[in-house]
Amino acid sequence: MTERIREFLRNRRREGLSDGPCLVLDTEVVRENYQKFARALPNTRVFYAVKANPAPEVLSLLAKLGSCFDTASVVEIQLVLAAGATADRISFGNTIKKERDIARALELGVRLFAVDCEAEVEKIARAAEATGVDKAEVKVFCRILCDCVGAEWPLSRKFGCAPEMAIEVLEHAHRLGLEAYGVSFHVGSQQRNTEAWDAALGSAAAIFRECGLRGIQLSMVNLGGGFPTKYLKDIPAVEAYGESIFRALSKHFGNRLPETIIEPGRGMVGNAGVIEAEVVLVSKKSKDENEVRWVYLDIGKFGGLAETMDESIRYPIRTEHDEDRLAPCVLAGPTCDSADVLYEKEPYWLPISLEIGDKVLIEGTGAYTTTYASVAFNGFPPLKSYVI
Ligand SMILES: Cc1ncc(COP(=O)(O)O)c(C=O)c1O
Repeated sequence: MTERIREFLRNRRREGLSDGPCLVLDTEVVRENYQKFARALPNTRVFYAVKANPAPEVLSLLAKLGSCFDTASVVEIQLVLAAGATADRISFGNTIKKERDIARALELGVRLFAVDCEAEVEKIARAAEATGVDKAEVKVFCRILCDCVGAEWPLSRKFGCAPEMAIEVLEHAHRLGLEAYGVSFHVGSQQRNTEAWDAALGSAAAIFRECGLRGIQLSMVNLGGGFPTKYLKDIPAVEAYGESIFRALSKHFGNRLPETIIEPGRGMVGNAGVIEAEVVLVSKKSKDENEVRWVYLDIGKFGGLAETMDESIRYPIRTEHDEDRLAPCVLAGPTCDSADVLYEKEPYWLPISLEIGDKVLIEGTGAYTTTYASVAFNGFPPLKSYVI
């Protein structure tokens, strides 16, 4: 929580505008985060994962700072271009793309694409032919599976292929005339283990070696995201990630270090944002005095806090009564869907004096909130966002 955010919220209240939940994001924190990444991983290009928060002010700041961008769709590519970055700073990092979207990306000048199977490679080759783009200028990197152990928001088996298969996929790209550029992986989001990159880098180095034997010189390793933001638990500093990654790169690649890329999303914007929300109801389900309290906020899973799914991400919540005695409660959102409960399996500790109408501040909410908010579920508008 920065002084600038505090000041913004004070002014908003003074002007009587504090109705409904809203995210306030401080771009100064994003600037600091970018600089920390650049310092901690000095020879690595930063591709900000736009999906974490695509606010135009965030994108234009990062474009000015020299960042590149990892995008998941044509709309994200267009947002990045509108923010002032050139197409050579954009990667189409989603492994699941429509062929016509690949063609559109090529027309917009994008030349860097993620794949995890031969069918996706073929789409890219066909789209390049259809748009008249020289295939030798189109770079593809193959994503490999990662076990995501240690991550609080694991990315499962949906993306990536087995390392042995990546060799075939890259060879296929080479055969079709595309540039087989390298390997990517994602160690799982909110990865609190700084050593998590080691095993994947071991696999990447083995793929480099085997491709080399087949006459294909790969150049790049995309280290993905996974860099955490501070929620309730402490996290290692970004410098510790930088050191551990450099150690693992040297261990597996020796003195022939590849070009490297990182794609931080959460770690770039998470701690830059705070959501101000309001207590709508405090109640109990029976008169039993041991019965747990239910606290209902005006924001829930459908209003932007989707990452509370399975109670994975536990946001710090500040109230004006934080000096008072705390007691556990079930914390829920305002909609008429029983899935709209934030924390119940592990109840959340909030002050017993918390009352209907009180404001609460949900910290660490700069990433994966605004874009997860539903359009109008139950008539509630999408999460408001102010970027300062
Ligand atoms: C391809 C890719 N890169 C980067 C990210 C950002 O990850 P994080 O927010 O953990 O930094 C994601 C997140 O889903 C992703 O899918």
